[in-house]
Amino acid sequence: MMDWTDRHCRFFHRQLSRHTLLYTEMVTAPAILHGPRARLLDFDPAEHPVALQLGGADPAELAEAVRIAADWGYDEINLNCGCPSDRVQSGCFGAVLMERPALVADCVAAMIAAAPVEVTVKCRIGVDDQIPEEVLPRFLETVSAAGVRRFTIHARKAWLQGLNPHQNRTIPPLDYPLVIAMKRAFPQLDLSINGGVGSLAEAEALLAEGPNGGLDGVMIGRAAYHEPFAILAEADSRIFGTGAPADPYAVLDAMRPYIDRHLAAGGKLHQITRHMLGLFHGRPGARGWRRVLSERVSTPGAGLEVLDAALEPLRTAA
Ligand SMILES: Cc1cc2nc3c(=O)[nH]c(=O)nc-3n(C[C@H](O)[C@H](O)[C@H](O)COP(=O)(O)O)c2cc1C
Repeated sequence: MMDWTDRHCRFFHRQLSRHTLLYTEMVTAPAILHGPRARLLDFDPAEHPVALQLGGADPAELAEAVRIAADWGYDEINLNCGCPSDRVQSGCFGAVLMERPALVADCVAAMIAAAPVEVTVKCRIGVDDQIPEEVLPRFLETVSAAGVRRFTIHARKAWLQGLNPHQNRTIPPLDYPLVIAMKRAFPQLDLSINGGVGSLAEAEALLAEGPNGGLDGVMIGRAAYHEPFAILAEADSRIFGTGAPADPYAVLDAMRPYIDRHLAAGGKLHQITRHMLGLFHGRPGARGWRRVLSERVSTPGAGLEVLDAALEPLRTAA
């Protein structure tokens, strides 16, 4: 998620769950070709498994971006066919690609040929006046024929005219049954559903065999960001059947050396802690944690002592 799931966010989320697949923000292929590559692509080895999401619609550019990114060691490279923002439309990529399945097929074929890293696609169920029941199966058929086996489907349309990106994540209705029907129609494909999932219980229901489930994966965006502990701390034990639920204090301890290194390299505390406000969500004193962290994080020279101060409200509330 742009401006949210940067490398610091992913490192933090990885302390909560070892097995969930983490995605980068979308990075455009031209940015990788011509921009500050290390800043865009560097990540900590602890983040594995991690997928890079690319934006683009030019097969040659995307292939070159894949070649470069594969050297960085990403576990998966995902093509964005779901982002509805104006900037993305003007570049003719993102959700507008739902109208161009043949072009998407050309793009992924070039990406697959470029490097031995798995290429996946994130898409919508359709855009504008398209009929999802017709468009989505054709899209999956065309793109999978080019070699993609794994898709994440954001289960709502994007309206390219008239709705802003925020509205495009809330106003078009969710259609889970259609995504579930796609799994029945394409059992050979690995299909994950995305959109509006707010708890692990909902994810479990979508994964379970049965008329309202049977999907291969569930992507959780906003809920995982805002309530990382609620979503991620039990993901390993409940979804992957391994490991114990994470402990928020142990997670905080694991973050300390990472933060230390970041500060020593000239980074700012808030660049990491802004992702950690929800660590104690739901616990007595959690509001105090958020408040102290938010207030004190920008004081000049702010360091690890701010974390200790932010823990105080939790201690006194316990
Ligand atoms: C701030 C923000 C940035 C996002 N950036 C991306 C992005 O870069 N690539 C992408 O595929 N989706 C992006 N999304 C959409 C989410 O990945 C997801 O599809 C959407 O929020 C619906 O899932 P959710 O209800 O679990 O959040 C973004 C969402 C938000 C809120």
